[in-house]
Amino acid sequence: MVRSPREWYRTARSLRRQLGRRRNRAGGVRTISELRTRVITGIDGRQDTVAPAAGSIATEPRPADGGRLLGNRSRSAARSRTSPLPLLGVWFFRGLLVIPFVLMAPEIIALILGRPDSVANVSASTADVLGTSSFLLFVMMLTVTPVHTLTGWRWHLILRRDYGVAMFFTAGTDLTLAALTTGDTFPGGPLGRIAGHTFLVFGTLSVFLLIPLALTANRRAMHWLGGHWRSVQRLTYVLWLTILIHLAFLFGLSSIFLDALAVSAPLALMRLPAVRRWWHAARRARTHRLLRVGAAVLLIGLFSVGYTQLVAELATKGGAAFVQRPPSD
Ligand code: HEM
Repeated sequence: MVRSPREWYRTARSLRRQLGRRRNRAGGVRTISELRTRVITGIDGRQDTVAPAAGSIATEPRPADGGRLLGNRSRSAARSRTSPLPLLGVWFFRGLLVIPFVLMAPEIIALILGRPDSVANVSASTADVLGTSSFLLFVMMLTVTPVHTLTGWRWHLILRRDYGVAMFFTAGTDLTLAALTTGDTFPGGPLGRIAGHTFLVFGTLSVFLLIPLALTANRRAMHWLGGHWRSVQRLTYVLWLTILIHLAFLFGLSSIFLDALAVSAPLALMRLPAVRRWWHAARRARTHRLLRVGAAVLLIGLFSVGYTQLVAELATKGGAAFVQRPPSD
């Protein structure tokens, strides 16, 4: 449950008491927001949202976890602060976010400059490159929480928001370019291009669902919306469904739809509250190792089958778009 601002300040006060008036790196007393960030990034991220890592305030330690959890967190937080690897990891994954725009840049620049064939090129590429990129970003965003469940890592939790917001921009660009350029494939003006078929309606609906998700992916919205914030963020699951319907109408029970199912199944399974709770408890207690390794291998294997196909699709179509020679399918 998301806390109201008042509860939040109360929590921060009690945390200050629990942690003692610790000194920050600059030698001063930690501010409330530093403490909060510490708690937020230090505690199990149990939500599946286009959320700032700050959203994990919904996941404060249960009393039963007691001081042991706090102690483990303190140790691992201290490790994270001293090791450059988490920061490098975060910036590596953030660097990947420019790929869709780099791949589409030559065609979009040609379109802006009014070059011959530029409309046809963008029309042929946009859904392939930006559609696949949007889906891959969505999958990466959904992967953040299961990775935490499997490993206990927290350094990557911030990527959930980054990938969600990046997806909003790629999917929004996809919709805009489709409305402007796909007249050669879909008659009926801009409306026909974004809603002339059932699969287009679901693609467009998916982009519209991203608007409230992206707008509320920040702390201010979280405090402003209070308890409603989580309900808004649960639109992520509706979005998941509308994307799968979009792909089902496009591909039927084949190719990219099957890849989408292959990546979705493990991500959905790891979100089942019973599975997540069991895994967290077993990991902390260091029990059922063989079972956990076996299940992880199966789930990661299934995920990889779909994921590599989607990446290969993006590499092929994206490469063709980059050199402005999209396949004319
Ligand atoms: C969140 C938003 C969206 C996601 C995640 C998404 C995802 C995808 C994916 C993964 C593909 C397969 C690409 C390929 O064949 O390589 C696809 C195809 C397609 N999408 Fe979307 N899409 C989205 C929004 C839209 C929108 C807004 C439109 C148009 C209004 C659209 C129209 C199409 C079309 C026409 C295709 C078929 C392209 C082809 O095979 O030539 N999509 N989409």
